[in-house]
Amino acid sequence: IMMLKLDFLPLSWLLGTWESDEPGEGTFPTIKPFRYTEKLHFSHVGQPVINFTFNAFHAESNKPLHRECGFIRIQPGTNKVAFIIAQNSGLVEIEEGELTGNQLKLQSQSLGRISFAKEPHVQQIGRVLQLRPDGKLEQTVSMATDNQPLTQHLYITYSRSS
Ligand code: HEM
Repeated sequence: IMMLKLDFLPLSWLLGTWESDEPGEGTFPTIKPFRYTEKLHFSHVGQPVINFTFNAFHAESNKPLHRECGFIRIQPGTNKVAFIIAQNSGLVEIEEGELTGNQLKLQSQSLGRISFAKEPHVQQIGRVLQLRPDGKLEQTVSMATDNQPLTQHLYITYSRSS
């Protein structure tokens, strides 16, 4: 008999595919505000781990832009959550935080980047993912760079598409 150890069950509300219903808002003190669309996919293969991909596109041209993929783990028996993330910009990160109800609050614990990553370099990331009472998923991302304190970069909501 195969025993499934689905430690991620408290996060099972994430599983499936989500698509932004209206464009997300990108901001930062040093850039021109922009709008983007994004598709999220969360799945599992029977391991106590969630696999995910986030694919973002320019809202008007549909051009692929930012992409992230990785894994989510929960420390068994706790509400402590870890995201292990690779980004197409050349950044890799560990984010950790806690699940409270349907809200996941994460902060970067370690960041690594390719030697020729674009400047300014990200120094800290904060992320909140929550399932809202209306069934939508909401994500907010803040970041600190070499020359800016922790400030919001992204706000977006998604509807479940499958
Ligand atoms: C700019 C990081 C997600 C679109 C930037 C900058 C950084 C950054 C460091 C440069 C800021 C500056 O010049 O002062 C990140 C991180 C992300 C993320 C760490 C995820 C955790 C996204 C997503 C999109 C996006 C999902 C959606 C399309 C942009 C755009 C700019 C930008 C359009 C301005 C133009 C450019 O520098 O390419 N981001 N970003 N970013 N980001 Fe993000």
